[in-house]
Amino acid sequence: MVKNTSKNEIEKQISHIALIMDGNGRWANSRGLPRYEGHAQGLITLRKLLRDLKGYNLDYLTLFTFSIDNWKRPKEETSKLMQLLRKFISNDLSELHNNDVRIKVIGSRKDIPKDIIDLIKGAESLTINNSGLYLQIAFNYSGRQEIINATKKIAFAAAKGELDPNKIDKNIFESNLYSAGIPDPDLIIRTGSEKRISNFLLWQLSYSEVYFEECLWPDFNKNKLDVAINDYKNRSRRFGNVISEYR
Ligand code: IPE
Ligand code: IPE
Ligand code: MG
Repeated sequence: MVKNTSKNEIEKQISHIALIMDGNGRWANSRGLPRYEGHAQGLITLRKLLRDLKGYNLDYLTLFTFSIDNWKRPKEETSKLMQLLRKFISNDLSELHNNDVRIKVIGSRKDIPKDIIDLIKGAESLTINNSGLYLQIAFNYSGRQEIINATKKIAFAAAKGELDPNKIDKNIFESNLYSAGIPDPDLIIRTGSEKRISNFLLWQLSYSEVYFEECLWPDFNKNKLDVAINDYKNRSRRFGNVISEYR
């Protein structure tokens, strides 16, 4: 994609930010509250950030809201998290739609209660023609599972004779991912001080700039986002290339 890049060409606008919204449980624990209060506060933070993002000219925002591995948590907590997704879609959908936001939920539909699947389908179909921010919500998501699913789809197509295995390339592989058609994130921000990816967008993050934010997700805000974006703008993305002034 990037050829003979000069430093100025690299310092460009951000099109796609991915967020690992981590730290809700610790936020609640530090206040002597049950973990779900941290998740509820996390939703308030998200709602505020989505409003603040209006002026940002961002094309894509991907949110990590629930991982397949989060099912390992106590039932009480996972039920609350399901309840919060219900609340988010029911309460916020019309505002997002009025702001021209397009919603797409990526991840497995296995184990998701039927009423939530219906809410997701409703949100996706209501907003399908919106051309503002593309909000990609990773819910019941696993990066490894996404890659396995893509591999299976490709293998079945090859087994049926619809696809020549020699033709399998990056584009064919990507077109079988949940995120087909969506460019890779430019910047991924993880709040909550952990320095790991936790099975998020394993394929798509190959050349994303990674930013770790110490604060817990409920304490995240527009100012902290601006700091992360400024940090990104001062980085030199090379995609394996050499920038021209160093050739
Ligand atoms: C992130 O916060 C939200 C989800 C994983 C659903 P956590 O619940 O992981 O919060 P910590 O990391 O335990 O503080
Ligand atoms: C990642 O956070 C998942 C979400 C933010 C939804 P986790 O809290 O589940 O990740 P680990 O367990 O710290 O790796
Ligand atoms: Mg966590």
